[in-house]
Formats: sequence, structure tokens, C-alpha cells
Amino acid sequence: MSTHNRMTKVWDPFVRIFHWTLLAAFIVAFSTEGDLQVLHNAAGYLMLGLLACRLVWGIVGTRHARFTDFITMPSTIVAYLKDARAGTAKRYLGHNPAGGAMIVILIIVLTLTVVTGIGMERGTLPANVASWFSMFDGYSNRSLKHFHEFFANLSMVFILGHVIGVLISSWQHRENLVRAMIDGKKRI
Ligand code: HEM
Repeated sequence: MSTHNRMTKVWDPFVRIFHWTLLAAFIVAFSTEGDLQVLHNAAGYLMLGLLACRLVWGIVGTRHARFTDFITMPSTIVAYLKDARAGTAKRYLGHNPAGGAMIVILIIVLTLTVVTGIGMERGTLPANVASWFSMFDGYSNRSLKHFHEFFANLSMVFILGHVIGVLISSWQHRENLVRAMIDGKKRI
């Protein structure tokens, strides 16, 4: 087999399960907004758990899952985007610099979405857990609802950008990045 066709493991099982479960939870949460509150909340708590585990995995996980593997300088991201526009972007086995930046943005915006949602529900939580959300005490549920909806919509915008980025990168490098997120493998 030529080197060109040889495959290597890039995404470990945790990253793949995290990714597709997060996608499913996001779809459930987004489509049950204002309706089916129990399901909406369960999807939100699941996302919070997934995001917390991803933060830990970003420090102790496998090579391409680590933040140090894909967080780069803003100048590197800009240079990558310029190259991508010109169709000359370098291929990366892990996340490319722009993809890495998008992942950090997604993690932050999704966390803000979930946390503002839990902020609204904090009255239903056990007192010791509710106290973790005391930073919201000065805000009415009406304003928290606005923040929550704003971050949820912002997440949707970034997710669309993420998917478009994945498709463009797949096309430029003639590889199926979606399949790689399913079976974990990429061409060497
Ligand atoms: C149909 C929809 C989606 C597709 C096809 C897709 C595809 C992908 C692919 C191919 C990667 C790896 C990118 C690379 O090779 O560098 C990735 C990473 C990622 N995606 Fe998606 N994605 C989708 C939806 C979402 C959604 C809805 C979210 C968030 C709720 C999300 C969050 C992430 C995150 C956080 C990563 C980084 C994975 C990690 O390192 O743990 N994606 N996605």
C-alpha cells in the first residue's frame, strides 16, 4: 500500500463520542426550546457534562485532542485563513488553526448558553448547587432568558460556520473530515 493511502488514528473514541453526543444534545435542546422543558433541561445538563469532560480531556487526552495541539497564535489563524482563501492552505492531521479557534469559540459559547439556562432554573436546584450560580442573583429571569437565547442563537451561527469550514477544508484537501470524525482515521 502506498503512503498516500495509509491511514492513521487521529480522533480517539472519547472525542468522537463527545462530538456526536454534543451534536445530538444541541439538536434536542434547540428544538425543545419553550416546549418539553424536561427534555430541554436534560439536554442542557448533558451538554454541560460533555463540555466539562472535554475540558479535562483537552489537558490529559490523546495528542490531537489536547488544547496545546490546536490552540495557536491569532497571526497563525489569520495566515491560515489567507492561505485557505487562496486555496493553498497546509493540511493538518489534527485541527487546522482556524478549526481549532472555532472549537475554542464553540466550547465557550455553548458553555455560556448552558450556564445562563441553568441560571434561570437555579431556584429548582439543591441550595448548595444553586449557590454556584449566585453570580446571577442580580439578574431577573427575563434578562437571563435574553442572554440564554442570545448565546443559543450565537452557538447556531458558529455551528453553521464550523460545518461550512469542515466542508471547505474537506474539499480543499480531497478528504472526508466527517467520516474521520466517525471512524477516527485520516490519511497519513
Ligand atoms: C452536521 C453537523 C456537524 C458536522 C458534519 C461536524 C463535523 C465535525 C468535524 C469533521 C470535526 C473535526 C474537524 C477537523 O477535522 O479538524 C468536528 C469537530 C468538532 N465539532 Fe463538529 N460537526 C457538526 C456539528 C457540530 C455541533 C452541532 C457542535 C456543537 C454543538 C460541534 C462541535 C464540535 C467540536 C467541539 C469539535 C472539536 C472536537 C474535539 O476536538 O473534541 N460540531 N466537527
